Amino acid sequence: MSNKYAKSLVVVRELDSLRRRVHDWRRDGLSVVLVPTMGALHEGHIKLMEQAKKMADRVVATIFINPKQFGPDEDFSSYPRQEADDFETLDVAGVHLLFAPEAEVMYPPGFATTISVAGISDILDGQHRDGHFIGVATVVAKLLLQSLPDIALFGEKDYQQLVLIRRFVKDLNIPVDIIGAPTVRDPDGLAMSSRNSYLSTEQRAKAPILYATITEAAAEIARSREIMVTIEQARQKLISAGFDAVDYVEARQADNLAPLKSTSDSGRVLAAVRLGHTRLIDNVAVPTR
Ligand code: PAF
Repeated sequence: MSNKYAKSLVVVRELDSLRRRVHDWRRDGLSVVLVPTMGALHEGHIKLMEQAKKMADRVVATIFINPKQFGPDEDFSSYPRQEADDFETLDVAGVHLLFAPEAEVMYPPGFATTISVAGISDILDGQHRDGHFIGVATVVAKLLLQSLPDIALFGEKDYQQLVLIRRFVKDLNIPVDIIGAPTVRDPDGLAMSSRNSYLSTEQRAKAPILYATITEAAAEIARSREIMVTIEQARQKLISAGFDAVDYVEARQADNLAPLKSTSDSGRVLAAVRLGHTRLIDNVAVPTR
């Protein structure tokens, strides 16, 4: 089904149409990259699409606000929905195909299967968002198997999500290359996110302190090798800055998110804070010396 908003973007809502198009491209020797999203597209998504275009002959985006990755007290019903604008954005970005299924297409009556990635699901964000990563793993596995692309691209802003996806793709032998794309930031450092639209002017002014704090902590870990002390100082800084809660700030190994014990391992500093009802997450690499 084509959509009235699209100039060259083709919008499909049914699984058969998605499968047929991707299958035909691949039969004709064209490579395909998948970029899953929940819509409410911003500059960060546009950069993802631009990167995707350089990686493969055809770009398939998805928009699906996945109910299974929101907890009962989370923002599923208020999550920004702006389909017409998103179609326009994807069209201008040169995306070839958009899969925007209804919930019944993804989760028909009787749907009963979930994917749970032990360990990675239960730490960091998993400790604060019950069931979130089961929802993410289940929907991403479905999107990968539905479209069978050569490559799938995910932003590093959701770093734990990226590590989780890499894990289950490997464990389940799903034949796709998972690629992480650098976080896109506003000029003051705040990582772009659809949820930034929830912030008041005052909260928006405070938000970049998150990035500044974890960047400073990562540099200090690389310099001093004092991991625990530095992380504790970063936590204190975030509390003093007036965030309403600091869910976590931690140094972890970049590849599997195990605690970072030594700077000879490649590390990542990850944090989640709250400003009112809005939860912000961010992460940065520990610089290598
Ligand atoms: O990162 C997101 O936007 C979502 O978690 C994803 C990967 C599209 C799955 O719903």
